Amino acid sequence: MHILITGATSGLGLEMARIYQQKGASLVLVGRQPLAQLDPTLFTPTTYCRADLGDPEAAEQIATWLAAQGIQTLDLLIHNAAVGYYGRPADQPTGHLLQMVQVNLTTPIALTHALLPLLTAAQGKIVFVSSVASALPTADYATYTATKAALDGFARSVRLELAQAGVRVQTLHPGAANTGMHAKIGIPPTQMDWNRFPTAEATASQMVRIIQRTDKGNVAIGLGNKVLRQVGLLGGTPLEWAMRRGGRTMPPSTPTSPAHAVITGVAEGIGRALALRLSQAGYRITGIDVNVGGAVETQAAVRQQGGEMAILPADLANPADIARVVQTLAEGPRPTLLVHNAGISAAGHFARLPIAAQLKVVAVNFSAPLLLTTGLLAAGVVDGQTQVVLISSLSHYVGYPGAAVYAATKDGLASYGRSLATAVPRPRLLTVYPGPTRTAHARRYSPDNSREQTRMAPEMVAEQVVAAVQSGRRRLLPGTAAKLFALLGTLAPTLMGHAMKRAILDKFGE
Ligand SMILES: NC(=O)c1ccc[n+]([C@@H]2O[C@H](COP(=O)([O-])OP(=O)(O)OC[C@H]3O[C@@H](n4cnc5c(N)ncnc54)[C@H](OP(=O)(O)O)[C@@H]3O)[C@@H](O)[C@H]2O)c1
Repeated sequence: MHILITGATSGLGLEMARIYQQKGASLVLVGRQPLAQLDPTLFTPTTYCRADLGDPEAAEQIATWLAAQGIQTLDLLIHNAAVGYYGRPADQPTGHLLQMVQVNLTTPIALTHALLPLLTAAQGKIVFVSSVASALPTADYATYTATKAALDGFARSVRLELAQAGVRVQTLHPGAANTGMHAKIGIPPTQMDWNRFPTAEATASQMVRIIQRTDKGNVAIGLGNKVLRQVGLLGGTPLEWAMRRGGRTMPPSTPTSPAHAVITGVAEGIGRALALRLSQAGYRITGIDVNVGGAVETQAAVRQQGGEMAILPADLANPADIARVVQTLAEGPRPTLLVHNAGISAAGHFARLPIAAQLKVVAVNFSAPLLLTTGLLAAGVVDGQTQVVLISSLSHYVGYPGAAVYAATKDGLASYGRSLATAVPRPRLLTVYPGPTRTAHARRYSPDNSREQTRMAPEMVAEQVVAAVQSGRRRLLPGTAAKLFALLGTLAPTLMGHAMKRAILDKFGE
């Protein structure tokens, strides 16, 4: 039985490795430490694959290592490695944020893709080590929690896809455990006494037991964490109040004259409709897009109705472009409203879609809004008086087999919004979960476009977003159908998952 564990050099990964060694498994242990520094009874040249999971080539490197060892089947792949960050979102350095997204989310997705043939050959199982935090708003761990929520979202959708190939997918949600992680991420020991948490050995042995006993999709480790996760999933204002840092929410600032909306992805679709509608509502617009031609068309339409719009050309997949956008916005009129709307997808079977196209979705839909928000918070351009709108997706409620990486990014974004709404400074957050919308985006990624006429017009979505911004709402599901599907997805997630699979994934064919 071949078992691969990432992050096996310390904490829960190391303890799981010890348990599986006692059980006689054939181990592949992945870590970034030099072999000479590790326990020689566990780590040897044939069991240890040294790879830095923060390196974009890591997945390929591990797959090549396995091939060189002659390993052609994998019974269990445990994505355990992770890094954290403790502190205000505004203080997290850009490089650290990018590293965290890579280690906690991008590499696990890429490694899953690279090792699928080996897992399929063994009819194996993939385990994602998430956290109970992924269901909670966490002011001091906003990015970490968002990466874990994104991983949950990926697992939820890809689980339905991989079942066809006989590969099982499970997500484990441990609570706080007494490992080195807390010290590594900079939590002062005065702040948190981790000696009162369960030991790494105890948590790891519970995790191994669960992995062996059940293939249930999501399992929280221990009774207390089960309760905490359910409370987090139910959500609601009291929970968010309880998780808040700092004092009361700042009142809205007296809008600069005129109010200024910065919108990403204005070249078409919902972004263009928002630019037009917000301009009618009196906002001057700054539109960010890589498609300058489309942005110019939007600008012409805004000007035609008497509005003002500037364009900032930028490729949001490129962190250097985002840094330039932050600098430009810091030098210009202060935004009163920041709308993270830009999004791309990659639709089809996860296993068959090129991984590069799928990872670009992570960069544009997830890393970019986090980087842009962090940069603007750090520059003081976004503060407790700014309104931030995150365009997530109805997939947050219903899953999206056929676009598992897209679903991951939209769950991650929703989680980030929940945490940011409890952080310091605390911008006013609105998260929008649009269902199918009649845009070029939907046409591009739908398997057959058979229901185009039932999709909501982007102008209607924009109308509802602007009304929600004006009334200070926190959450918006535009339209009755989206509300109904969200309810069904919450009450009967398994049923809805299968319905989504039939409606989307199965239409992409075998
Ligand atoms: N401890 C908790 O309270 C807790 C609670 C909920 C969930 N979790 C989750 O449980 C899992 C294990 O955490 P832990 O508490 O055992 O933490 P840990 O002791 O810090 O272990 C994390 C492991 O990931 C490895 N890792 C980090 N960055 C890497 C990189 N770039 N390349 C290769 N390996 C890398 C670490 O290697 P180094 O030794 O080189 O740093 C370490 O082996 C994580 O997914 C964590 O999010 C932990």
